[in-house]
Amino acid sequence: MPDLSDKKALVTGAAGGIGRAIAERLQACGADVAAADHPSALQNASFNPDRTIPGDLTDTDYADSLPQRAVDMLGSLDILVNNAGVMRRGNITQASDEDFDVSVKVNIEAPFRLCRSAIPLMESNGGAIVNIASCWGIHPGPDHPLYIMSKAALASLTQCLGRDHAHQGIRVNAVCPNEVDTAMLRTGFAIRGLEVDTAIDNLNASVPLGRIAEPADIADVVAFLASDESRYMCGALLEVNGGKPVA
Ligand SMILES: NC(=O)c1ccc[n+]([C@@H]2O[C@H](COP(=O)([O-])OP(=O)(O)OC[C@H]3O[C@@H](n4cnc5c(N)ncnc54)[C@H](O)[C@@H]3O)[C@@H](O)[C@H]2O)c1
Repeated sequence: MPDLSDKKALVTGAAGGIGRAIAERLQACGADVAAADHPSALQNASFNPDRTIPGDLTDTDYADSLPQRAVDMLGSLDILVNNAGVMRRGNITQASDEDFDVSVKVNIEAPFRLCRSAIPLMESNGGAIVNIASCWGIHPGPDHPLYIMSKAALASLTQCLGRDHAHQGIRVNAVCPNEVDTAMLRTGFAIRGLEVDTAIDNLNASVPLGRIAEPADIADVVAFLASDESRYMCGALLEVNGGKPVA
């Protein structure tokens, strides 16, 4: 297990499927974790209230201030995980202005604001930033242009910052999952009127490893990228896909 003793971490979307697994994994590795998410989402999760920073990432003041608030709470900041994300479905003719705005604000603008605020706070001791992008952002799949372009932008931001801030000892990398068994995936099946467990079984059969990812499969890779075990990695986009290419 990577050693994150004495490390201070901020995780966005920490009450969601993957976010909660990341927060738990970083804690299990010894990190002190501040959990950020919507107030209602955090209420339903079992985080220590002293370690939550509730808010909406579309609020630019909240996004800008999160890293400093994490420092105020934890004493310093070594790890930032930009995990919060939204998936707006449908082809471009089905996309509303609101779909566009939310996709850009949550999936691109919030990570931009958090990285911009976090990097000066990490400068003196170095740090690790892990962005949760998607393999769809690298290999576009069908009928999700807003989601895919936003994750492509996050992947590109990761590569740029990985290069620009390596000299400060700040490593910026991304995890790019394929399908993960969370509410984000399951609600998509429900919206399409599919029986969710049957749809998951069908999806499992499409993966060479025999199953779609569990959140813990992603969290373990995040812990690796957050730790010294990945000390020579900067700007990498790690596909975590069970061997399944984007169809
Ligand atoms: N589930 C998948 O198949 C999959 C695949 C590839 C990438 N991802 C990415 O992994 C990340 C986590 O997704 P998940 O599957 O756990 O989804 P999820 O819906 O379970 O969790 C997303 C979390 O982000 C939070 N969030 C969304 N908008 C927010 C806002 N405006 N302000 C504050 N918090 C906000 C939500 O409250 C939620 O807790 C996302 O970035 C997603 O795009 C997921």
